[in-house]
Amino acid sequence: AGRAAAQTSGFAFTPVPAGTGFDLTVPEGYDWKPLVRWGDALWSEADGAYGSDGVVPVAMSDKVFGENTDGMETFDVDGRTVLVINSEYANPQINLPEASEGMAASADEVTLLKNIQGVTVMEIADSGTGFEVVKDSPLNRRITHDTQMTMDGPAAGHALVQTNADPEGRSPKGTMNNCGSGRTLWGTYLTCEENFNGYFGATGEMPATEGYDRYGIGAEGRYAYETFDPRFDLTTEPNEPNRHGWITEIDPADPASTPVKHSALGRFKHENAAMVQAADGRIVVYMGDDERGEFIYRYVSNGTWAEGQPTDGLLSDGTLYVAKFNDDQTGAWLPLTPESTGMAIEEILVFARMAGSKVGATTMDRPEWIATNPLRAEVYCALTNNKNRGVSGNAGGDAAPVGGPNPREVNNYGQIVRWWPTDEDHGADSFSWDLYVMAGNPSAAEGMYRGSANVTPGNMFNSPDGMVFSSDGMLWIQTDGDDSNEGEFEGMGNNQMLVGNPETGEIARFLTAPNGAEVTGLTWSLDRKVAFVGIQHPGGSWPDGEGKPRSAVVAVWREDGATIG
Ligand code: FEO
Ligand code: CA
Ligand code: CA
Ligand code: CA
Repeated sequence: AGRAAAQTSGFAFTPVPAGTGFDLTVPEGYDWKPLVRWGDALWSEADGAYGSDGVVPVAMSDKVFGENTDGMETFDVDGRTVLVINSEYANPQINLPEASEGMAASADEVTLLKNIQGVTVMEIADSGTGFEVVKDSPLNRRITHDTQMTMDGPAAGHALVQTNADPEGRSPKGTMNNCGSGRTLWGTYLTCEENFNGYFGATGEMPATEGYDRYGIGAEGRYAYETFDPRFDLTTEPNEPNRHGWITEIDPADPASTPVKHSALGRFKHENAAMVQAADGRIVVYMGDDERGEFIYRYVSNGTWAEGQPTDGLLSDGTLYVAKFNDDQTGAWLPLTPESTGMAIEEILVFARMAGSKVGATTMDRPEWIATNPLRAEVYCALTNNKNRGVSGNAGGDAAPVGGPNPREVNNYGQIVRWWPTDEDHGADSFSWDLYVMAGNPSAAEGMYRGSANVTPGNMFNSPDGMVFSSDGMLWIQTDGDDSNEGEFEGMGNNQMLVGNPETGEIARFLTAPNGAEVTGLTWSLDRKVAFVGIQHPGGSWPDGEGKPRSAVVAVWREDGATIG
């Protein structure tokens, strides 16, 4: 596989062969080391908090780097490098005593799980031996499932988001299941709430509340939060799930700032948020809803913005659209308005999925990250896979027939769709599209399942998920798929990170993760000489070589000191 990989390389690195063990590999001439592992101290008082048994004491659980690293962004705060990173979820089998069987057994255990998820804000610096966390930096901050937030936009204060604890409906707590990331043009962080539905449960009667079916909210919570915190108990707080599933803005420069949930951007299982500007200066945010048979969205602000101008209202006053992809490779953004849906604007935003169904949006193969090309008006979305394509749609949603950018029945490999807005204007209401790549197995599969022409025995992969453009217009693709290396996945090896050339279609493997892990989250140092890459849910004893495996962010650099992104 190594030679086959090298043969297809028009890149500045020699592609690496498929990985199969519990190591992380990068190309020759590159090196890596962990920057931060889950449980590492952000403040000195938490030194040694992660014990040899792999457990962090409850009292220290909001003073360490969170578990299961995901989307991340670097910011220049007065010359300091601040890294903001999502922690998507917790592995209770690792974090809790074995006897708990993966469910919290006390209020303390709920607090621990709440604290090791959410978002970490931390300063990092290179004092000569590579980047490290700046412990005790005044910029360090943990944002957890309990952090006080506010909400703005049309749905703020509406009856649908009012609870017993917050009858005004404007003061939600916590951001949950933070998956992909985004950044505003004005230097703040956007965190995206994905599988928030799993945190709620009912200790008594299950209320018959609108939207529960379509959003997958059921009586059994995944961690038993509802048993110890009434906020998560649907029996008494049926509207609390409506306060999650939003895009939340965090100011990395002000640790005392209150994060804001932007209801104007709609409620669904947000993967990430890709912000650009329309030709007239309006703010545009592209967003995917990661669920089999759900949609791709676009938000367009009413106001315009230029560097140095105020940002008020840009993410609270605008129009949400949903994508329709036609079979002839054209497409349209359909506005979600009271006129187009027959729903009130607050309902449109809280139940964006149902609004999308009303206007005939296209059901997609699980939209993961969306990335915009910095060199031209071009947008990519990873459609990770869909075992139900052609079989069924999302529960309570629309049918998901084969067609358009979702051309394969029972799609276990995934594809990347891209589109070009009309007149190179992200504010245009129409676009044309194609498939940049259909992942597949040219060695072990037949027909369309072999993949598109740019998939070879030397670069094959499945389930594209994370995607970020580097400043030179290269598309970095991270995978979260089947790493069994068997059957229809034979030859793909472990999850990986590849680089795609948008011009030539060429794709080359840059990094392989330890078995068990997905690769998710990518950003760069301010000088672009170091890439930060997230390794989530690794197997074995990675990266320490002994003890429990630990999700971690690694730094990757070129040994000759050249820029890499
Ligand atoms: Fe959390 Fe869709 O990945
Ligand atoms: Ca993802
Ligand atoms: Ca995924
Ligand atoms: Ca994940």
